[in-house]
Amino acid sequence: MPESSQAKPDRNLALELVRVTEAAALASARWVGRGDKLAADGAAVDAMRFVLDSVSMDGVVVIGEGEKDEAPMLFNGEQIGDGTPPVVDIAVDPLEGTTLCALGMPSALSVIALAERGSMFDPGPCVYMEKMAGGEEIADLLDLDRPLPETLKLIAERKGGSVGDVIVVMLDRPRHQEAMREVREAGARIRLITDGDVSGTLLAVSERSPVDLLWGIGGTPEGVLSAAALKSMGGQLLGRLWPRDDGERQAAIDGGCDLDQILTADDLCSGEDVFFSATGVTDGDVLQGVRYRGPGATTESLVMRSRSGTVRRVHARHDRSKLRNVIGGDPYG
Ligand code: FBP
Repeated sequence: MPESSQAKPDRNLALELVRVTEAAALASARWVGRGDKLAADGAAVDAMRFVLDSVSMDGVVVIGEGEKDEAPMLFNGEQIGDGTPPVVDIAVDPLEGTTLCALGMPSALSVIALAERGSMFDPGPCVYMEKMAGGEEIADLLDLDRPLPETLKLIAERKGGSVGDVIVVMLDRPRHQEAMREVREAGARIRLITDGDVSGTLLAVSERSPVDLLWGIGGTPEGVLSAAALKSMGGQLLGRLWPRDDGERQAAIDGGCDLDQILTADDLCSGEDVFFSATGVTDGDVLQGVRYRGPGATTESLVMRSRSGTVRRVHARHDRSKLRNVIGGDPYG
């Protein structure tokens, strides 16, 4: 028997992380539709931090959220856990889609990923990244330099259909006008999303979704988190840093960033043992959002570990009054 098949199953941190994203989702979901994205984000951050502290590890936040819009955050460099092994990098987005949550719109998520120390990409000062993502079947066709219409044609051929069958998910941003025009002129279809390209990436790589491809310029933290998910789900994400102006470009170059490099999911998260959890805050195509029922609530999460390749969908029922008694606080909303 090969040595690896004799190894005992070890600790799956993702099963602990699901409690972390559940707590953040439950807390931020209290703010759905109330028009206050900072309050929603703050509730998610506090709840995430509270439960994250219960996970035994020597963690450091390398991808935090907040610099872009000064949102409350689990800041980069923050030490998490009790200092015992494993020694890990942590990427968080306690509330991915703060505006989606504040406006009660679909697909707000709470997300976290953990991987071996030093294995997550440092985007330096670059807030944005150009991204393209798709499932296993078309992974080798992704190319950020090839004109988009040509890639759409190749995808259609690979899938045995016409370009008119292909759906591209894209953030609805003025910077994407030219690409939108190209996709439409090629005859393909577009699903525009107002926010949330982690959810867009999960949709693009998921086998049961009608979406074939994600393209667009979105957040670099979201790119690293999406890559961490793909380590288990399969598929590919390509990224290239996209400085907003000359100042950011120069700062990135001075900081040693290669602005021409095409980054694969493995470059963005090179870990061998990557743990990921996402819990829905509002209902979306990928995950159902939090539902409150009397003193209880339900959540749905995607929970993954790359080493085993196990992807779990976890449906949980929570008794908020009991949780309050057990923990003596109210981080669950
Ligand atoms: P927040 O959760 O910080 O609001 O980010 C949502 C988001 O839509 C991301 O999914 C995406 O990567 C990024 O913002 C795009 O940035 P911008 O809104 O500046 O175009």
